Amino acid sequence: MQRLDIPVVSYSTRTAAAMAEHGFGLAADGVWRDGAGRSFAAALSGLPAPSAHVRTWGCQMNEADAEAMDGQLQTLGFAPAPAPEAADLLLLNTCAVRGTAAEHALGEIGRLKRLKAERPGLLLGVCGCLTQMPETVAYLREHAPHVDLIFGTNNLHDLPDLLRRAYRDEAQTVDIWQQAPETVEELPVRRAPGVKAWVNVIYGCDKFCTYCIVPTTRGRERSRRPGDVLAELEGLAAAGYREVTLLGQNVNSYGHDLGAGYDFADLLRDAALVPGLRWIRYTTSHPRDFTPRMVETIAAHPKLCEHFHLPVQSGSDRVLRWMNRGYTRAQYLELVGLVRRLLPLASITTDLIVGFPRETEEDFLQTLELVAEVGYDNAFTFQYSPRAGTPAARWEDPIAPEVKKDRLDRLNALQYATSRRRNEALVGSLQEVLIEGASRKDAGVYAARTRTNRLVLTPARPGSENHFGRMRITAAQTWTLHGELEAVEAGA
Ligand code: SAH
Ligand code: SF4
Ligand code: F3S
Repeated sequence: MQRLDIPVVSYSTRTAAAMAEHGFGLAADGVWRDGAGRSFAAALSGLPAPSAHVRTWGCQMNEADAEAMDGQLQTLGFAPAPAPEAADLLLLNTCAVRGTAAEHALGEIGRLKRLKAERPGLLLGVCGCLTQMPETVAYLREHAPHVDLIFGTNNLHDLPDLLRRAYRDEAQTVDIWQQAPETVEELPVRRAPGVKAWVNVIYGCDKFCTYCIVPTTRGRERSRRPGDVLAELEGLAAAGYREVTLLGQNVNSYGHDLGAGYDFADLLRDAALVPGLRWIRYTTSHPRDFTPRMVETIAAHPKLCEHFHLPVQSGSDRVLRWMNRGYTRAQYLELVGLVRRLLPLASITTDLIVGFPRETEEDFLQTLELVAEVGYDNAFTFQYSPRAGTPAARWEDPIAPEVKKDRLDRLNALQYATSRRRNEALVGSLQEVLIEGASRKDAGVYAARTRTNRLVLTPARPGSENHFGRMRITAAQTWTLHGELEAVEAGA
C-alpha cells in the first residue's frame, strides 16, 4: 500500500515555533532557555538543575527511541541522572511483545509507587509499546495514579509539550496516538558513547503476523526518505561513527510505501558508498521481503556485514500459514541457500516460537528438522505468548504449558549444541573485530564484535577501545568466543 501522503516535518523548526510561544529560544549551549537564562527543564520543574533518566525494555527500536528522548531531554536542560532512583524525571520506555516483557514493566511501575511517595517532586512517565495497548492505559488510570504522564511510540517527538502539560496538570496526563500522522526528521539524539549508531530507516509494521502486537504498538509502515537517511549517515560518519545499524521492524520492506521504486537493496548500496563508515548492519529482516537483489548487494559491498538475521518462527508450513508469515518452509530454505552460496562465511540467526495454538508434535518436529538443516549460528527462542487484540489470542490454545516448556527445552538443546559447534569451527581463524572496551563482567577483559556480530572476549588492551583490529580466535563457548588481539588499527 502506498502512503505517499504522510508529511515529513522538521523537529527543530516545529519545536522552535512552540518554544518561542512560551518565551524560550535555543541558547549557544544547545539548551532551550528563557530571557533570564533559565532552562525549559528548570522552569517546568522549579528545580535549578533537574535530572532525567529513561529506562528501556525491548528491542533496538525502543533503544533508538530512548536515544531520541534522551536527546530531547538534553536540549530541554535535563542533566543525565546519576542513578535512576535519583532522577527528577523518570520515563519507563516499555515493551509489549510478550507477557513477560509487559509484566516486568508493570511490576516496576508498581514498585515506583513508594519512591513517588517519598519524593513527590519526581515526575514519573510511562511510554513505549505497552502504552499503545488500550488495556494498559485503562489499567494505569485505575491502578497507578502515581504515574504522571502516559504517552506512546507515535508522539515521543512531542516530549517538550507532553512534559509541559504533565508538570502543569494535577491529573494524570494521557496522550496516545494510534498512528503517526507525520514522519519527524532532525530529532536531537543522544547516542551511547562509542563509534556505533542506530539509524531508523522505517517505522511501524504492516505484516500483521497473527501472534504479534507490534503492528498495534508501532502503527503502519512508513519509510524515511532515502535522502534523509543518507544525510544522517553522512553526519554520523563526519562525527566519527564507524558502524551503523539500519533499523526497522521489517527493513526489507523499506521504500515500498514511498512509491519511488527505491528499495532496501538501493538503500544498502547507497549506505555502503558513504565515506567514513566501515561496517553497516541492519535489523530486523522479514524473509518474505528479502529479495535476491538484497543478498547480492550485501555480497558485493564489503562494508555490508555478512550477518543475516532471518526470523523463521516455525518449520511447519501449516503453522507458518496460521501465523500469516507469507512464506513457506521451501521458500525460506531457498533464501538460506542463496545466502550460503553467495556468502559462505555469513552467519545466519533466527527467531523461533514454539507452542503456537494448535501446533502439534509433528509441526514441532518440522521446526527441529529445519533448525538442524540450516545450522543457525544463534537463535532467539520463545514460547508463544498470547497478546490481547491479536487474532491468535482469540484462538483455542489446547497445548498444555508443560508441553510448550518441553518443546522449548528440546529446541534450545539442539540450538545450543549448534551454536557451540559453529563457534568451535572458528577456533584458529583470524577475524576482523571492532573492540568495544571493558566487558560487562570484568574490567580486565575486553569485549569485541566480529563482522558477524559474535562476541569475542580478550585480555584488556587499554587504548584499543573503539578501534578495529584483528583477532585470532583461541577458544569457543556456546555464546562467546575468546581471542588474542594480533593487531589494532590506528584511528577509530
Ligand atoms: N519484526 C521482527 C520481530 C519483532 S518481535 C520479525 O518479524 O522478525 C521479535 C520476536 O519476538 C519475533 O520474531 C517473534 O519470534 C517473537 N514474538 C513476537 N510476538 C510473540 C508472541 N506473541 N509470543 C512469543 N514470541 C513472540
Ligand atoms: Fe510482528 Fe510480524 Fe511485524 Fe515482525 S513482521 S513485527 S513478527 S507483525
Ligand atoms: Fe517490544 Fe515494541 Fe520492540 S513491543 S520488541 S519494544 S517494537
